[in-house]
Amino acid sequence: MTESVKLIYGDKEYQLPVIMGSEKEKAIDISKLRQKTGLITLDAGFANTGSCTSSITFMDGEKGILRYRGIPVEQLAEKSTFAETAYLLIHGRLPRRKDLTDFSVLLNDNSLVHEDMRAFYESYPRSSHPMGILSSMVNALRSFYPELHNLQEEINMTVTRLLSKVRTLAAMSYKISRGHKVVYPRPDLTYCANFLNMMFATPVRPYEIDPDVVKALNVFWILHADHEQNCSTSAVRVVGSARVNLYAAISAGIAALWGPLHGGANQAVVEMLTEIVENKNMKQMIERAKDKNDSFRLMGFGHRVYKTYDPRMKIMKKMCDTLLEKLNITDPLLDAAIELEQIALNDDYFIEHNLYPNVDFYSGIVLRTIGIPTNMFTVMFAIGRLPGWIAQWKESIDDPNWKLSRPRQIYTGPKENRYVPIEER
Ligand code: CMC
Repeated sequence: MTESVKLIYGDKEYQLPVIMGSEKEKAIDISKLRQKTGLITLDAGFANTGSCTSSITFMDGEKGILRYRGIPVEQLAEKSTFAETAYLLIHGRLPRRKDLTDFSVLLNDNSLVHEDMRAFYESYPRSSHPMGILSSMVNALRSFYPELHNLQEEINMTVTRLLSKVRTLAAMSYKISRGHKVVYPRPDLTYCANFLNMMFATPVRPYEIDPDVVKALNVFWILHADHEQNCSTSAVRVVGSARVNLYAAISAGIAALWGPLHGGANQAVVEMLTEIVENKNMKQMIERAKDKNDSFRLMGFGHRVYKTYDPRMKIMKKMCDTLLEKLNITDPLLDAAIELEQIALNDDYFIEHNLYPNVDFYSGIVLRTIGIPTNMFTVMFAIGRLPGWIAQWKESIDDPNWKLSRPRQIYTGPKENRYVPIEER
Protein backbone atom coordinates (compact mmCIF):
# COMPACT_ATOMS: atom_id res chain seq x y z
CA MET A 1 0.00 0.00 0.00
CA THR A 2 1.32 3.45 -0.84
CA GLU A 3 1.95 5.69 2.14
CA SER A 4 0.58 9.19 2.56
CA VAL A 5 0.85 11.98 5.10
CA LYS A 6 -2.04 13.85 6.64
CA LEU A 7 -1.94 17.64 6.60
CA ILE A 8 -4.37 19.43 8.89
CA TYR A 9 -4.89 23.05 7.94
CA GLY A 10 -7.79 25.04 9.38
CA ASP A 11 -10.70 22.66 9.73
CA LYS A 12 -9.70 20.53 6.76
CA GLU A 13 -7.54 17.44 6.36
CA TYR A 14 -5.54 16.67 3.26
CA GLN A 15 -3.77 13.46 2.26
CA LEU A 16 -0.47 13.93 0.48
CA PRO A 17 1.12 10.90 -1.21
CA VAL A 18 4.59 9.71 -0.17
CA ILE A 19 7.00 8.77 -2.93
CA MET A 20 9.68 6.17 -2.21
CA GLY A 21 13.00 5.82 -4.03
CA SER A 22 14.80 2.58 -4.80
CA GLU A 23 16.99 3.02 -1.69
CA LYS A 24 13.88 3.63 0.44
CA GLU A 25 14.35 7.37 0.85
CA LYS A 26 10.99 9.09 1.03
CA ALA A 27 9.43 12.36 -0.10
CA ILE A 28 6.03 13.99 0.33
CA ASP A 29 4.59 14.69 -3.10
CA ILE A 30 3.36 18.30 -2.83
CA SER A 31 2.67 18.83 -6.53
CA LYS A 32 -1.06 19.35 -5.80
CA LEU A 33 -0.53 21.22 -2.50
CA ARG A 34 -1.28 24.74 -3.72
CA GLN A 35 -4.15 23.62 -5.86
CA LYS A 36 -5.75 21.82 -2.89
CA THR A 37 -4.83 24.11 0.01
CA GLY A 38 -3.68 27.47 -1.38
CA LEU A 39 -0.38 26.95 0.44
CA ILE A 40 3.12 26.73 -0.92
CA THR A 41 6.24 25.43 0.87
CA LEU A 42 9.19 27.60 1.85
CA ASP A 43 12.62 26.00 2.03
CA ALA A 44 15.71 28.23 1.99
CA GLY A 45 18.48 26.73 -0.11
CA PHE A 46 16.14 23.83 -1.00
CA ALA A 47 17.66 21.84 1.87
CA ASN A 48 14.49 19.73 2.20
CA THR A 49 13.26 19.87 -1.36
CA GLY A 50 13.57 17.17 -3.98
CA SER A 51 13.51 18.82 -7.40
CA CYS A 52 13.22 15.63 -9.44
CA THR A 53 13.38 11.86 -9.37
CA SER A 54 16.62 10.56 -10.81
CA SER A 55 18.20 7.19 -11.52
CA ILE A 56 21.75 8.47 -11.99
CA THR A 57 23.48 8.94 -8.65
CA PHE A 58 22.73 7.79 -5.12
CA MET A 59 24.15 9.57 -2.08
CA ASP A 60 23.63 8.75 1.58
CA GLY A 61 24.94 11.70 3.54
CA GLU A 62 24.65 9.98 6.92
CA LYS A 63 26.54 6.85 5.89
CA GLY A 64 28.93 8.52 3.43
CA ILE A 65 27.82 6.53 0.37
CA LEU A 66 28.16 7.61 -3.26
CA ARG A 67 27.19 5.41 -6.21
CA TYR A 68 26.90 6.13 -9.91
CA ARG A 69 24.18 4.03 -11.55
CA GLY A 70 24.41 1.77 -8.51
CA ILE A 71 28.18 1.24 -8.65
CA PRO A 72 30.14 2.46 -5.59
CA VAL A 73 32.50 5.31 -6.45
CA GLU A 74 35.30 3.41 -4.66
CA GLN A 75 35.08 0.60 -7.25
CA LEU A 76 35.00 3.02 -10.16
CA ALA A 77 37.99 4.96 -8.80
CA GLU A 78 39.95 1.74 -8.47
CA LYS A 79 38.99 -0.03 -11.69
CA SER A 80 37.47 2.35 -14.21
CA THR A 81 38.67 5.22 -16.36
CA PHE A 82 37.08 8.64 -16.62
CA ALA A 83 35.89 7.96 -20.19
CA GLU A 84 34.24 4.70 -19.12
CA THR A 85 32.61 6.37 -16.10
CA ALA A 86 31.36 9.17 -18.35
CA TYR A 87 29.77 6.54 -20.60
CA LEU A 88 28.20 4.86 -17.58
CA LEU A 89 26.65 8.09 -16.32
CA ILE A 90 25.41 9.27 -19.69
CA HIS A 91 24.16 5.95 -21.11
CA GLY A 92 23.08 4.33 -17.86
CA ARG A 93 25.22 1.20 -18.13
CA LEU A 94 28.86 0.16 -18.36
CA PRO A 95 30.00 0.06 -21.98
CA ARG A 96 30.89 -3.19 -23.71
CA ARG A 97 34.34 -3.28 -25.28
CA LYS A 98 33.04 -2.15 -28.68
CA ASP A 99 30.95 0.65 -27.13
CA LEU A 100 34.00 1.97 -25.37
CA THR A 101 36.14 1.80 -28.51
CA ASP A 102 33.47 3.63 -30.53
CA PHE A 103 33.12 6.22 -27.76
CA SER A 104 36.90 6.78 -27.64
CA VAL A 105 37.04 7.15 -31.43
CA LEU A 106 34.25 9.74 -31.29
CA LEU A 107 35.99 11.61 -28.48
CA ASN A 108 39.15 11.67 -30.55
CA ASP A 109 37.39 12.72 -33.77
CA ASN A 110 35.72 15.65 -32.03
CA SER A 111 38.63 16.87 -30.02
CA LEU A 112 39.68 19.80 -32.20
CA VAL A 113 38.04 23.19 -31.74
CA HIS A 114 37.35 25.72 -34.46
CA GLU A 115 40.50 27.78 -35.05
CA ASP A 116 38.46 31.00 -34.85
CA MET A 117 37.81 30.28 -31.19
CA ARG A 118 41.45 31.01 -30.48
CA ALA A 119 40.78 34.65 -31.27
CA PHE A 120 38.39 34.82 -28.31
CA TYR A 121 41.11 33.97 -25.87
CA GLU A 122 43.30 36.74 -27.14
CA SER A 123 40.54 39.29 -26.46
CA TYR A 124 40.20 38.47 -22.75
CA PRO A 125 42.26 40.50 -20.31
CA ARG A 126 45.23 38.40 -19.15
CA SER A 127 43.93 38.51 -15.56
CA SER A 128 40.58 36.87 -16.44
CA HIS A 129 39.64 33.86 -14.37
CA PRO A 130 39.64 30.69 -16.50
CA MET A 131 36.17 29.71 -15.19
CA GLY A 132 34.62 32.88 -16.61
CA ILE A 133 36.36 32.24 -19.92
CA LEU A 134 35.32 28.57 -19.98
CA SER A 135 31.69 29.39 -19.26
CA SER A 136 31.50 31.84 -22.16
CA MET A 137 33.52 29.59 -24.50
CA VAL A 138 31.12 26.71 -23.92
CA ASN A 139 28.20 29.00 -24.66
CA ALA A 140 30.01 30.11 -27.80
CA LEU A 141 30.40 26.49 -28.97
CA ARG A 142 26.74 26.62 -30.03
CA SER A 143 27.60 29.26 -32.65
CA PHE A 144 30.32 27.07 -34.11
CA TYR A 145 28.57 23.73 -34.13
CA PRO A 146 25.16 22.80 -35.52
CA GLU A 147 22.05 23.05 -33.43
CA LEU A 148 20.43 20.18 -31.59
CA HIS A 149 17.15 18.98 -32.98
CA ASN A 150 16.46 16.48 -30.24
CA LEU A 151 17.20 13.54 -32.49
CA GLN A 152 19.06 10.91 -30.51
CA GLU A 153 21.95 10.86 -32.97
CA GLU A 154 22.40 14.63 -32.79
CA ILE A 155 22.17 14.64 -29.03
CA ASN A 156 24.90 12.00 -28.87
CA MET A 157 27.03 14.09 -31.20
CA THR A 158 26.63 17.25 -29.11
CA VAL A 159 27.38 15.32 -25.94
CA THR A 160 30.57 13.88 -27.40
CA ARG A 161 31.60 17.25 -28.75
CA LEU A 162 31.21 18.81 -25.34
CA LEU A 163 33.15 16.11 -23.52
CA SER A 164 35.97 16.28 -25.99
CA LYS A 165 36.16 19.97 -26.81
CA VAL A 166 35.84 21.32 -23.27
CA ARG A 167 39.01 19.43 -22.39
CA THR A 168 40.78 20.95 -25.42
CA LEU A 169 39.44 24.44 -24.63
CA ALA A 170 40.69 24.19 -21.05
CA ALA A 171 44.22 23.19 -22.11
CA MET A 172 44.21 25.87 -24.82
CA SER A 173 43.27 28.55 -22.30
CA TYR A 174 46.22 27.57 -20.13
CA LYS A 175 48.68 27.66 -23.04
CA ILE A 176 47.40 31.01 -24.31
CA SER A 177 47.45 32.53 -20.82
CA ARG A 178 51.14 31.66 -20.65
CA GLY A 179 51.78 33.03 -24.12
CA HIS A 180 52.73 29.55 -25.34
CA LYS A 181 51.95 27.68 -28.53
CA VAL A 182 48.73 25.65 -28.37
CA VAL A 183 49.31 21.88 -28.36
CA TYR A 184 46.77 19.90 -30.37
CA PRO A 185 45.18 16.65 -29.18
CA ARG A 186 46.86 13.43 -30.31
CA PRO A 187 44.92 10.43 -31.63
CA ASP A 188 47.21 7.91 -29.95
CA LEU A 189 46.56 9.14 -26.39
CA THR A 190 43.76 8.34 -23.96
CA TYR A 191 41.39 11.05 -22.71
CA CYS A 192 43.41 11.92 -19.61
CA ALA A 193 46.88 11.47 -21.13
CA ASN A 194 45.82 13.70 -24.01
CA PHE A 195 44.78 16.46 -21.65
CA LEU A 196 48.06 16.30 -19.76
CA ASN A 197 49.99 16.40 -23.02
CA MET A 198 48.01 19.40 -24.29
CA MET A 199 48.68 21.17 -20.99
CA PHE A 200 52.36 20.45 -20.53
CA ALA A 201 54.07 19.52 -23.82
CA THR A 202 56.05 22.32 -25.46
CA PRO A 203 57.87 22.46 -28.80
CA VAL A 204 61.17 22.31 -26.92
CA ARG A 205 60.26 19.71 -24.31
CA PRO A 206 57.95 16.79 -25.01
CA TYR A 207 55.78 15.82 -22.05
CA GLU A 208 56.71 12.48 -20.56
CA ILE A 209 53.48 10.68 -19.80
CA ASP A 210 53.67 9.10 -16.36
CA PRO A 211 51.05 6.36 -15.83
CA ASP A 212 50.80 7.29 -12.12
CA VAL A 213 49.86 10.85 -13.03
CA VAL A 214 47.39 9.61 -15.67
CA LYS A 215 45.82 7.30 -13.06
CA ALA A 216 45.61 10.19 -10.56
CA LEU A 217 43.83 12.38 -13.11
CA ASN A 218 41.41 9.56 -13.98
CA VAL A 219 40.57 9.16 -10.29
CA PHE A 220 40.26 12.92 -9.76
CA TRP A 221 37.77 13.22 -12.62
CA ILE A 222 35.85 10.06 -11.67
CA LEU A 223 35.37 11.44 -8.15
CA HIS A 224 33.91 14.65 -9.56
CA ALA A 225 31.80 13.06 -12.31
CA ASP A 226 28.39 13.47 -10.65
CA HIS A 227 26.89 14.39 -7.31
CA GLU A 228 23.12 14.40 -7.84
CA GLN A 229 21.28 17.72 -7.42
CA ASN A 230 24.14 19.98 -6.30
CA CYS A 231 24.15 23.71 -7.08
CA SER A 232 25.69 23.55 -10.58
CA THR A 233 23.68 20.49 -11.64
CA SER A 234 20.51 22.18 -10.46
CA ALA A 235 21.58 25.23 -12.48
CA VAL A 236 21.94 23.01 -15.57
CA ARG A 237 18.49 21.49 -14.97
CA VAL A 238 16.79 24.82 -14.20
CA VAL A 239 18.31 26.63 -17.17
CA GLY A 240 17.73 23.57 -19.38
CA SER A 241 14.05 23.54 -18.39
CA ALA A 242 13.57 26.76 -20.38
CA ARG A 243 14.48 24.52 -23.36
CA VAL A 244 17.76 26.29 -24.07
CA ASN A 245 20.39 24.36 -25.98
CA LEU A 246 22.73 22.04 -24.09
CA TYR A 247 25.75 24.35 -24.46
CA ALA A 248 23.89 27.20 -22.75
CA ALA A 249 22.72 24.95 -19.93
CA ILE A 250 26.26 23.64 -19.32
CA SER A 251 27.63 27.17 -19.48
CA ALA A 252 25.26 28.07 -16.62
CA GLY A 253 26.50 25.03 -14.68
CA ILE A 254 30.10 26.17 -15.09
CA ALA A 255 29.20 29.64 -13.80
CA ALA A 256 27.53 28.11 -10.71
CA LEU A 257 30.45 25.78 -10.07
CA TRP A 258 32.84 28.73 -9.99
CA GLY A 259 31.55 29.87 -6.55
CA PRO A 260 33.79 29.24 -3.52
CA LEU A 261 31.01 27.46 -1.63
CA HIS A 262 30.83 24.94 -4.48
CA GLY A 263 33.58 23.96 -6.97
CA GLY A 264 35.63 27.08 -6.32
CA ALA A 265 36.44 25.63 -2.90
CA ASN A 266 39.36 23.61 -4.31
CA GLN A 267 41.19 26.81 -5.21
CA ALA A 268 40.14 28.44 -1.93
CA VAL A 269 41.54 25.50 0.09
CA VAL A 270 45.00 25.77 -1.43
CA GLU A 271 44.98 29.53 -0.96
CA MET A 272 43.98 29.03 2.68
CA LEU A 273 46.64 26.36 3.28
CA THR A 274 49.28 28.54 1.62
CA GLU A 275 48.38 31.39 3.94
CA ILE A 276 48.57 29.04 6.94
CA VAL A 277 52.02 27.80 5.93
CA GLU A 278 53.32 31.28 5.16
CA ASN A 279 51.84 33.08 8.17
CA LYS A 280 51.80 30.16 10.63
CA ASN A 281 48.25 31.15 11.63
CA MET A 282 46.37 27.84 11.75
CA LYS A 283 44.94 28.45 15.22
CA GLN A 284 43.65 31.91 14.26
CA MET A 285 42.02 30.44 11.12
CA ILE A 286 40.20 27.86 13.21
CA GLU A 287 39.06 30.49 15.70
CA ARG A 288 37.82 32.69 12.84
CA ALA A 289 35.88 29.76 11.33
CA LYS A 290 34.14 29.23 14.67
CA ASP A 291 33.34 32.90 15.25
CA LYS A 292 29.67 33.62 14.52
CA ASN A 293 30.51 37.26 13.77
CA ASP A 294 33.07 36.36 11.12
CA SER A 295 31.92 35.16 7.71
CA PHE A 296 35.15 33.18 7.24
CA ARG A 297 34.72 29.40 6.83
CA LEU A 298 37.24 26.64 6.85
CA MET A 299 37.39 25.86 3.16
CA GLY A 300 37.15 22.18 2.22
CA PHE A 301 35.08 21.48 5.33
CA GLY A 302 31.36 20.76 5.58
CA HIS A 303 28.78 19.62 3.09
CA ARG A 304 25.07 20.11 2.59
CA VAL A 305 24.45 16.36 2.30
CA TYR A 306 27.37 14.59 3.99
CA LYS A 307 27.18 14.69 7.75
CA THR A 308 30.13 12.33 7.98
CA TYR A 309 33.29 11.93 5.88
CA ASP A 310 32.78 12.68 2.21
CA PRO A 311 33.63 9.29 0.63
CA ARG A 312 35.37 11.09 -2.24
CA MET A 313 37.69 12.80 0.22
CA LYS A 314 38.93 9.48 1.59
CA ILE A 315 39.83 8.24 -1.91
CA MET A 316 41.39 11.60 -2.76
CA LYS A 317 43.54 11.59 0.37
CA LYS A 318 44.76 8.05 -0.30
CA MET A 319 45.58 8.93 -3.88
CA CYS A 320 47.32 12.10 -2.75
CA ASP A 321 49.58 10.07 -0.42
CA THR A 322 50.34 7.47 -3.12
CA LEU A 323 51.08 10.07 -5.77
CA LEU A 324 53.41 12.14 -3.63
CA GLU A 325 55.26 9.03 -2.53
CA LYS A 326 55.62 7.69 -6.08
CA LEU A 327 56.83 11.03 -7.39
CA ASN A 328 59.01 11.47 -4.31
CA ILE A 329 57.54 14.88 -3.55
CA THR A 330 56.95 16.51 -0.18
CA ASP A 331 54.45 19.32 0.04
CA PRO A 332 54.21 21.55 3.14
CA LEU A 333 50.56 22.14 2.24
CA LEU A 334 49.84 18.45 2.76
CA ASP A 335 51.38 18.54 6.24
CA ALA A 336 49.33 21.63 7.06
CA ALA A 337 46.16 19.97 5.74
CA ILE A 338 46.70 16.83 7.85
CA GLU A 339 47.30 18.92 10.97
CA LEU A 340 44.28 21.12 10.30
CA GLU A 341 42.06 18.08 9.74
CA GLN A 342 43.15 16.55 13.05
CA ILE A 343 42.62 19.75 15.02
CA ALA A 344 39.19 20.36 13.49
CA LEU A 345 38.02 16.78 13.99
CA ASN A 346 38.79 17.01 17.70
CA ASP A 347 37.21 20.42 18.17
CA ASP A 348 33.72 20.64 19.70
CA TYR A 349 32.51 23.20 17.15
CA PHE A 350 33.29 20.95 14.19
CA ILE A 351 31.99 17.85 15.98
CA GLU A 352 28.69 19.51 16.94
CA HIS A 353 28.21 20.92 13.44
CA ASN A 354 29.10 17.59 11.76
CA LEU A 355 31.83 19.29 9.76
CA TYR A 356 34.19 16.86 8.05
CA PRO A 357 36.67 17.43 5.24
CA ASN A 358 35.04 17.29 1.82
CA VAL A 359 36.40 16.30 -1.60
CA ASP A 360 38.05 19.68 -2.07
CA PHE A 361 40.20 19.44 1.01
CA TYR A 362 42.95 17.33 -0.54
CA SER A 363 42.13 17.65 -4.23
CA GLY A 364 44.13 20.85 -4.69
CA ILE A 365 47.26 19.14 -3.40
CA VAL A 366 46.80 16.39 -6.00
CA LEU A 367 46.34 18.98 -8.72
CA ARG A 368 49.42 20.95 -7.61
CA THR A 369 51.44 17.75 -7.72
CA ILE A 370 50.31 17.11 -11.29
CA GLY A 371 51.41 20.66 -12.19
CA ILE A 372 47.99 22.29 -12.59
CA PRO A 373 48.10 26.01 -11.68
CA THR A 374 45.81 27.09 -8.83
CA ASN A 375 43.49 29.23 -10.95
CA MET A 376 42.78 26.18 -13.16
CA PHE A 377 41.61 23.96 -10.26
CA THR A 378 37.93 24.70 -10.68
CA VAL A 379 38.24 24.19 -14.43
CA MET A 380 39.49 20.68 -13.60
CA PHE A 381 36.39 20.15 -11.46
CA ALA A 382 34.23 21.38 -14.37
CA ILE A 383 35.74 18.90 -16.84
CA GLY A 384 35.11 16.14 -14.31
CA ARG A 385 31.50 17.22 -13.66
CA LEU A 386 30.61 17.39 -17.37
CA PRO A 387 29.34 13.79 -17.68
CA GLY A 388 27.10 14.34 -14.66
CA TRP A 389 25.66 17.59 -16.00
CA ILE A 390 25.05 15.95 -19.37
CA ALA A 391 23.47 12.84 -17.86
CA GLN A 392 21.18 14.96 -15.66
CA TRP A 393 20.19 17.19 -18.57
CA LYS A 394 19.50 14.10 -20.74
CA GLU A 395 17.41 12.59 -17.99
CA SER A 396 15.37 15.77 -17.66
CA ILE A 397 14.63 16.05 -21.40
CA ASP A 398 13.55 12.40 -21.47
CA ASP A 399 11.21 12.91 -18.50
CA PRO A 400 7.56 12.98 -19.65
CA ASN A 401 6.85 15.35 -16.73
CA TRP A 402 9.59 17.80 -17.72
CA LYS A 403 8.34 21.20 -16.63
CA LEU A 404 9.71 24.71 -16.68
CA SER A 405 11.49 25.31 -13.35
CA ARG A 406 9.72 28.20 -11.74
CA PRO A 407 9.65 28.34 -7.94
CA ARG A 408 7.26 30.61 -6.10
CA GLN A 409 7.90 33.04 -3.24
CA ILE A 410 6.32 34.66 -0.23
CA TYR A 411 6.19 38.36 -0.97
CA THR A 412 7.24 40.61 1.92
CA GLY A 413 7.37 44.01 0.17
CA PRO A 414 5.01 46.99 0.46
CA LYS A 415 1.28 46.57 -0.13
CA GLU A 416 -0.30 48.22 -3.17
CA ASN A 417 0.99 51.76 -3.36
CA ARG A 418 0.30 54.85 -5.41
CA TYR A 419 2.82 56.16 -7.99
CA VAL A 420 4.02 59.56 -6.74
CA PRO A 421 5.03 62.06 -9.44
CA ILE A 422 8.65 63.22 -9.03
CA GLU A 423 7.73 66.81 -8.03
CA GLU A 424 5.59 65.52 -5.13
CA ARG A 425 8.28 63.26 -3.62
N1 CMC B 1 33.58 26.29 8.50
C1 CMC B 1 32.98 26.75 9.63
N2 CMC B 1 31.67 26.63 9.89
C2 CMC B 1 30.91 26.01 8.95
C3 CMC B 1 31.48 25.50 7.77
C4 CMC B 1 32.86 25.65 7.57
N3 CMC B 1 33.43 25.20 6.44
N4 CMC B 1 30.48 24.93 7.03
C5 CMC B 1 29.35 25.07 7.72
N5 CMC B 1 29.61 25.74 8.90
C6 CMC B 1 28.65 26.05 9.96
C7 CMC B 1 27.86 27.28 9.63
O1 CMC B 1 28.49 28.46 10.10
C8 CMC B 1 26.55 27.00 10.36
O2 CMC B 1 26.76 27.25 11.73
P1 CMC B 1 25.54 27.72 12.71
O3 CMC B 1 24.47 26.68 12.53
O4 CMC B 1 26.16 27.73 14.05
O5 CMC B 1 25.12 29.07 12.21
C9 CMC B 1 26.39 25.50 10.18
O6 CMC B 1 27.72 24.98 10.01
C10 CMC B 1 25.54 25.10 8.99
O7 CMC B 1 26.03 25.81 7.86
P2 CMC B 1 25.17 26.03 6.53
O8 CMC B 1 25.83 27.06 5.70
O9 CMC B 1 23.74 26.25 6.88
O10 CMC B 1 25.23 24.59 5.93
P3 CMC B 1 25.16 24.23 4.42
O11 CMC B 1 24.65 22.87 4.32
O12 CMC B 1 24.44 25.26 3.64
O13 CMC B 1 26.72 24.32 4.02
C11 CMC B 1 28.59 24.31 2.65
C12 CMC B 1 27.35 23.56 3.11
C13 CMC B 1 29.41 23.39 1.78
C14 CMC B 1 28.17 25.54 1.82
C15 CMC B 1 29.43 24.77 3.89
O14 CMC B 1 29.77 23.67 4.68
C16 CMC B 1 30.65 25.57 3.49
O15 CMC B 1 30.56 26.77 3.27
N6 CMC B 1 31.86 24.90 3.40
C17 CMC B 1 33.07 25.57 2.97
C18 CMC B 1 33.11 25.62 1.44
C19 CMC B 1 33.40 24.28 0.83
O16 CMC B 1 34.31 23.56 1.26
N7 CMC B 1 32.64 23.93 -0.22
C20 CMC B 1 32.84 22.70 -0.97
C21 CMC B 1 31.70 21.73 -0.79
S1 CMC B 1 32.12 20.11 -1.47
C22 CMC B 1 32.29 20.37 -3.16
C23 CMC B 1 30.97 20.48 -3.82
O17 CMC B 1 30.31 19.43 -3.98
O18 CMC B 1 30.60 21.60 -4.17
